[in-house]
Amino acid sequence: MHVVTTIKEVRQQVHEWRREGLSVGLVPTMGYLHEGHASLIRAAVSENDRVVVSIFVNPTQFGIGEDLDSYPRDFDRDCTLCAHVGADLIFYPSVGEMYEPDAMTYVEILSDMPRQLCGQTRPSHFRGVCTVVAKLFNVITPDRAYFGQKDAQQLAIIRRMVRDLMFDVEVIGCPIIREEDGLARSSRNVYLNDAERVAARCLSKAVRLGQQLVEEGERDAQQVMNAMRRLVDSESLARVDYIEAVDSLTIEPIDRIETGTLIALAVYIGTTRLIDNFVVES
Ligand code: PAJ
Repeated sequence: MHVVTTIKEVRQQVHEWRREGLSVGLVPTMGYLHEGHASLIRAAVSENDRVVVSIFVNPTQFGIGEDLDSYPRDFDRDCTLCAHVGADLIFYPSVGEMYEPDAMTYVEILSDMPRQLCGQTRPSHFRGVCTVVAKLFNVITPDRAYFGQKDAQQLAIIRRMVRDLMFDVEVIGCPIIREEDGLARSSRNVYLNDAERVAARCLSKAVRLGQQLVEEGERDAQQVMNAMRRLVDSESLARVDYIEAVDSLTIEPIDRIETGTLIALAVYIGTTRLIDNFVVES
């Protein structure tokens, strides 16, 4: 497995693969990789001849006062994980490589889609995500790109961007990978102290409760959200940022639960903001 840091090198490598007629999968990440990322890389390895993992803590998707500087990093461990699961190339650019100092072009979805859910507290987040993912697509030109359902709004927004800007890439959503006690894997779980780590279980418990109510036939989104909120509120270290029911493709709020409804929540555990969700399948 190779590591490259420049756009020139990664383009050369992809170009060689293309000449050989090989397909290319991309897994964009911000590093500090865990089993959730590994599942995306494994999916990419099984469906493509070659797999690129990008590791880049993208400054434009962090708001003022967010954790850009303290975002956890461990490049050596990331390399070991990537090699272990069969990635072919790590693209590990510097900020200067990805952003010209006088860059003026951004990719932004002009609808309510990026303003719902996480966009309420992170207003410029998805502009940063779309911009960096568009750059990565332009540099690597993957056949397929892999994203986790854990960031359901991000996945929906990237699908829309790909459709609107006619990127020739198939976007593949992958299921949420969880710890044994249900907590969705996240690079930010490392911020939790022991008591907070226990308290953080309330997110996946709320997801399970929501799923159970829907399975029992509840179709009133407010009833499901209320029950989930009561569960999270009973945890003293938790503070709800949002619990909402939306269409999983458009991220528009809905009242009646149907197939394709996304029920998503964000909860502060101490100062750490965690997210979780489920999509109603039938
Ligand atoms: P990051 O948080 O590193 O996540 C990289 C990818 O891993 C995302 O598609 C995310 O949804 C997926 N992922 C994270 N935790 C997961 C879990 N528990 N189960 C399944 N998939 C999981 O998301 C980003 O980086 C950035 O916004 C990025 C797309 C790289 C743009 O900078």
